[in-house]
Amino acid sequence: MTDKKAYLTIEGQEPIELPIYSGTLGADVIDISNLGANGYFTFDPGFTSTAACESAITYIDGDKGVLLHRGYPIEQLAENSDFLEVCYLLFYGELPTAEQKSEFIETIGTHTMAHEQLSFFFRGFRRDAHPMSIMCGVVGALSAFYHDAMDITIPRHREITANRLVAKIPTLAAMSYKYSIGQPFVYPRNDLDYASNFLYMMFATPCEDYVVSPILAKAMDRIFMLHADHEQNASTSTVRLAGSSQANPFACIAAGIATLWGPAHGGANEACLEMLIEIGDESNVDEYVARAKDKNDPFRLMGFGHRVYKNYDPRATVMQKTCDEVLKELGIDDEPLFRIARKLEKVALEDPYFVEKKLYPNVDFYSGIILRAIGIPTTMFTVIFALARTIGWISHWNEMVSEPYRIGRPRQLYTGHEKRDYPKK
Ligand code: SDX
Repeated sequence: MTDKKAYLTIEGQEPIELPIYSGTLGADVIDISNLGANGYFTFDPGFTSTAACESAITYIDGDKGVLLHRGYPIEQLAENSDFLEVCYLLFYGELPTAEQKSEFIETIGTHTMAHEQLSFFFRGFRRDAHPMSIMCGVVGALSAFYHDAMDITIPRHREITANRLVAKIPTLAAMSYKYSIGQPFVYPRNDLDYASNFLYMMFATPCEDYVVSPILAKAMDRIFMLHADHEQNASTSTVRLAGSSQANPFACIAAGIATLWGPAHGGANEACLEMLIEIGDESNVDEYVARAKDKNDPFRLMGFGHRVYKNYDPRATVMQKTCDEVLKELGIDDEPLFRIARKLEKVALEDPYFVEKKLYPNVDFYSGIILRAIGIPTTMFTVIFALARTIGWISHWNEMVSEPYRIGRPRQLYTGHEKRDYPKK
């Protein structure tokens, strides 16, 4: 907190004194909570200048392209850590000791199976249902199974729920894929690491042994890490708002999944790969960049631009490097889509339209190429994003519910009819 003040002067009125608070890093905030008592609301559609909460989990500096998880730069975590260690860091606030880490890995391992009854829930979907529609339904349905630890006022219940979600989300994600291709569900194997287990459940069949490639498992784990959390993005804000009504955590995470699905948010990775396929050849890049700049054309470069980053998304930089490594290791470094993406990035970043609007590649620009190289179908791209972001969502939910909180209830600028009477018959 600071003793700095802001004064809002409204014509003909005494200035309204508003407290200013400073965080550890980033912009100070002006506390406008007492404005309502003075007869005013602030107006900020899209929350471009609104801090909805206090948080200690993730910090983003959009101008400098900085992303810190509990203070650790994403580049260093991507290089030196792994996804489950980042999960521990995000939820508990500190990196685990070797003993804490092995205990956490074992705990997650003992929760990887989904309740057998859940497999019948999938049967209600058409086989061609988008896996994200299945995930919205199945994750919400988890609240029907785990009443033994759903008193959100008990920290241990919140911890068990977080462990269950981190452990089961890969199983449910793989089940949604298997269901869509008519193959039997594959049970998790607790002798495999987190990413390997997910790839095993995705691609193994009962008919023959399936050995997970360590190259692909490492790339998968890196992708999970890069998607784990991102401050108060749309889906995390949804989880917080749902949680503020004291809804159960499974329902809150299902709300986050639904929000992430949009192509402006987590659905951009699927849309970006479809865009690269539609562009089809490097010779078509200029035409699509021109379309992206044309106000009369709804086409946008998917995987480009960001509400907060007005510089490179640091995740995109790591993702590009990983893409290079994986394609080389798989011997497909002439991957045409990767070449189109590199050309598109070069052309866009030299174009004044993108430079002036500070539009850079974001986390979704290269991820799809790696996922495709791993063998993940496009319809599963946003499911992978939801799988990885579950730890971010539940960590923010836990942070909010652990402290005193109130139900979130924004106000509005009403521009509808004044009071009018129902016409007499
Ligand atoms: C994610 O918030 C997070 O942290 C999200 C995320 C996370 O980890 O949780 O980082 C994940 O969602 C990444 C973003 C993925 N979405 C896309 O890649 C979709 C394409 N990008 C755009 O739709 C857009 O850039 C957004 C949605 C990402 C940001 O939208 P904003 O902040 O509301 O910006 P805007 O739409 O107002 O755009 C500002 C200007 C506009 O031009 P003007 O009206 O000012 O003339 O930039 C233009 C836009 O037309 N613009 C683009 C563009 N993105 C913005 N023009 C062409 N192509 C684009 N991609």
